[in-house]
Amino acid sequence: MSRPRLAVLGSGRGSNFVALQEAILEHRLDAEIVLVASDVPDAPILTRAAEFSLPHATLLPSPFKTKLSPEGELALVELLRKHEAEWVILAGYMRVVKQPLLDAFPNRIVNIHPSLLPAFKGLHAWEQALRAGVRETGCTVHFVNAEVDGGAIIAQERVPVLPDDTPATLHARIQTAEHRLFPAALERLFTAS
Ligand code: GRF
Repeated sequence: MSRPRLAVLGSGRGSNFVALQEAILEHRLDAEIVLVASDVPDAPILTRAAEFSLPHATLLPSPFKTKLSPEGELALVELLRKHEAEWVILAGYMRVVKQPLLDAFPNRIVNIHPSLLPAFKGLHAWEQALRAGVRETGCTVHFVNAEVDGGAIIAQERVPVLPDDTPATLHARIQTAEHRLFPAALERLFTAS
């Protein structure tokens, strides 16, 4: 059977992308990354993709901060089709996914979020957790639907909040958990699909 073909979308550092690619190279994740794409032209995720010699692309500029333009989203769908992507993996992708993309990949778009959803949806979830004073937070791998951070949950990992945590220390601890959870959750998902 051929390996699942993944397109990874990200806007930032790309540490989750790197965790996925390393899991693939170490045979912990039986898949293939066929494209890395970013809405941010100078995002480190694109540099990391180049270092792994993976195809990478910048998306069309958008007049909106939180989403692509309708044309930009259609162009993204075409790009994904051109690379014959079967799954769209959001790894720190900061735009809300809209209908053309959702319709093109039904139940095939997966995101990682830095909280135990449904708690702390949206931006800076680790800061929300600190402000709320919870003793435990975590990360969630979930399907993407039209409701932001609202799709069906695939897997979660718990992370303690320590008394002297700052936003930076808590986020770093959550990211360590993300790098374990994401490849493991995708491997289980692809095996079951
Ligand atoms: C992660 O914390 C992820 O949960 C969130 O965005 C961050 C991306 O980090 N959606 P990176 O670009 O993978 O390092």
